[in-house]
Amino acid sequence: MRLSRLVTHTSKESSRSEVSLNAQLLTRAGYVSRLMAGVYQFLPLGLRVLTRIENIIREEMNALGGQEILMPTLHPREPWAKTGRWDTLDVLYRLSSEGGVVAPGTACDLALGPTHEEIVTPLVAGFVHSYRDLPTVVYQIQTKFRNEPRPKSGLLRGREFRMKDMYSFHTNQDDLDDFYNRAVVAYRRVYERCGLGDRTLLTYASGGSFSRYSHEFQTLTPYGEDTIYRIPDTELAINREIVGDLDAVRDIIPGYKPGDEKMLQEHKAIEVGNIFKLVTRFSDPFGATYTDRDGERCPIIMGTYGMGPSRLMGAIVECLSDDHGMIWPESVAPYRVGLINLKPGAADVDALGADLEQRLAAIGIETLYDDRTESAGVKFADMDLLGLPWQVIVGPRGLAKGVVEVKKRADGQRQEISVESLLSHFTGG
Ligand SMILES: Nc1ncnc2c1ncn2[C@@H]1O[C@H](COP(=O)(O)OP(=O)(O)O)[C@@H](O)[C@H]1O
Ligand SMILES: [Mg+2]
Repeated sequence: MRLSRLVTHTSKESSRSEVSLNAQLLTRAGYVSRLMAGVYQFLPLGLRVLTRIENIIREEMNALGGQEILMPTLHPREPWAKTGRWDTLDVLYRLSSEGGVVAPGTACDLALGPTHEEIVTPLVAGFVHSYRDLPTVVYQIQTKFRNEPRPKSGLLRGREFRMKDMYSFHTNQDDLDDFYNRAVVAYRRVYERCGLGDRTLLTYASGGSFSRYSHEFQTLTPYGEDTIYRIPDTELAINREIVGDLDAVRDIIPGYKPGDEKMLQEHKAIEVGNIFKLVTRFSDPFGATYTDRDGERCPIIMGTYGMGPSRLMGAIVECLSDDHGMIWPESVAPYRVGLINLKPGAADVDALGADLEQRLAAIGIETLYDDRTESAGVKFADMDLLGLPWQVIVGPRGLAKGVVEVKKRADGQRQEISVESLLSHFTGG
């Protein structure tokens, strides 16, 4: 892709309506654009990142045995009424098929999906007859809607946002526990691959009527909205919402007693995933059962596993950026290389730029080529802001020596490399 052809442009100033770092940088760099509070449009560079993140998640969920489906966003009222969440879920967008979104209490008969337990449970239960049909696991990656009261954190808290939601169905608790533990490992792999592995903690959070806790994956950053307490020398933490519950904490840290709070380190963090043992919370209201070996009807045991790809994208920006802009890990960067032509219009530099662009493409290295007629200063600043992992700088001085300059965005290190060995620099040859 040539920067001169890209539909978006960078801007020096970020909009005053954006207070969060992720929204400021992503908007300035033209990755996303705000339509209204908590609602973003993904532009070419931003969509490439989002798609890469979603593909990493997709690969890991497939490896775990999840089968991808796509459920509707528009839901009828009835399943939500059945579980009681029609009235209790305050973030639920309720609509009327008469038209328009109406206030709670009026005759709404539709909802915009904020999560899909109410839809997936009867859907899958319809295909489960006997114990032989279990376990089974489905997931989707989809746009969700929640009427969040304070959508001020850019991609971290959208009213419309992307979610991967997975649901597992089992004959018994042991089987659920086993799958749940494997899901923890798969989740960790996703954060690892997205460059957040070393700062994402498995965090105990409140459960519900059927399990003592749920587990959140919390990414440490000073701007996070959640407060968690890290258990020293572990990759584990406890969410503030349960840290005051002595019994719960004792369960997590054996021998824990009042006064021991001092050993817990308080941190701010972003919840990038949440997994939950539902057990029969949803199979009960929907009468979701299977027949066991003895021909008896038993409730299906369920787990639910959420993860937010768009929030993850915002979290990567919050964690991996500096004063100059974003720093994408190679795994999710929109392009691996930013090729900078310092003297567009000079025939030999243009020829080298075009040649490198083609040769990099030929070996599968995706390149964003800055061929614009702008000053070197503007180009360097823009490329730093865009945050591609590598910059390759071609100019008349290097050309005379037969070299290009290669800069690694993460540490700013520069080296001169001969034109011939540039390709092997990226292929590791
Ligand atoms: N408003 C939102 N904007 C972006 N991502 C979200 C939002 N709400 C939830 N997510 C993502 O989806 C995952 C599953 O959501 P869930 O745990 O149901 O949300 P909550 O904890 O807000 O009830 C979260 O861990 C987070 O990664
Ligand atoms: Mg959650």
